[in-house]
Amino acid sequence: MSNPSCLTIVRTLEDMQQHRSQWTSQGQRVALVPTMGNLHEGHFSLVKLARERADRVVVSIFVNPLQFAQGEDFEHYPRTLEQDTLALTLLGVDLVFAPDASVIYPDSLSMANEVAQTTTIVAPPSLAGILCGANRPGHFTGVTTIVGKLFHLVEPDMAIFGQKDYQQVAIIRQMVKDLNWSIEVITAPTTRAPDGLALSSRNQYLTNKQRFVAPRIYQTLLSMADRLMDGERNFVKLVKQATEALKSSGFGQIDYIDIRHPDTLRPSLATDQRWVLLMAARLGNTRLIDNLVVEADGLS
Ligand code: PAF
Repeated sequence: MSNPSCLTIVRTLEDMQQHRSQWTSQGQRVALVPTMGNLHEGHFSLVKLARERADRVVVSIFVNPLQFAQGEDFEHYPRTLEQDTLALTLLGVDLVFAPDASVIYPDSLSMANEVAQTTTIVAPPSLAGILCGANRPGHFTGVTTIVGKLFHLVEPDMAIFGQKDYQQVAIIRQMVKDLNWSIEVITAPTTRAPDGLALSSRNQYLTNKQRFVAPRIYQTLLSMADRLMDGERNFVKLVKQATEALKSSGFGQIDYIDIRHPDTLRPSLATDQRWVLLMAARLGNTRLIDNLVVEADGLS
């Protein structure tokens, strides 16, 4: 592995491709960590993993309008490029790819719904219709389109995603397989605050009171896991109890609580020995997601 060098910030496709060609000619392995910026310890853990595995680490920072539905927080999503690049310099990242929307969607306008109506898209697999996809129509089309573009532009040997977005990683894995890309998709474990809350840029939208309640989502996952490990197989009952637990702690709308197969995301069968528990619920206007993979004989 080469020594970490100075961080370069690249804003155009041409510059990105020029760096990539140079690394290709040097036979270097490249890891991509796609992000929307506003980086926190969760992102840093992905970067550290990338740094361990590859010769060159590229972090993309792009708030992708196409993956926000109308009425979501695209306009208000925190943009902190200066702070992000400073942190990435300290982590030994080689290159930050931070294009403007006009570079990524050249003939489209930058508003989420306008891009969605005008640009060519990468249609996600049917997995995109369940869970988060059922609550956020068009979201995963936005994700597969931007991740497909980034893969095309950066040509990474590997790409690192966080397990917090479990369905997103499953969809990207399938896209890579279906489109015959030779990119290794690596899932990094969820980084949590000491009280268990999964780190997310959206946590900063929470009021102090909501922040106090938010870890309940992880506690509820843990108690569902305990019940499964104790032999409970009545999934409907488990979901009902978890829904009641979240509601009584102050969560508003529960988008979903589900128990599925960790590899395929199909609904669980009574004979399964492994499960992924997935939740999306709202505290005020903030939507939180989390998940936990459970095996009959322990958490993994
Ligand atoms: O997980 C995210 O931050 C985004 O969905 C991603 C993968 C960077 C695509 O915009």
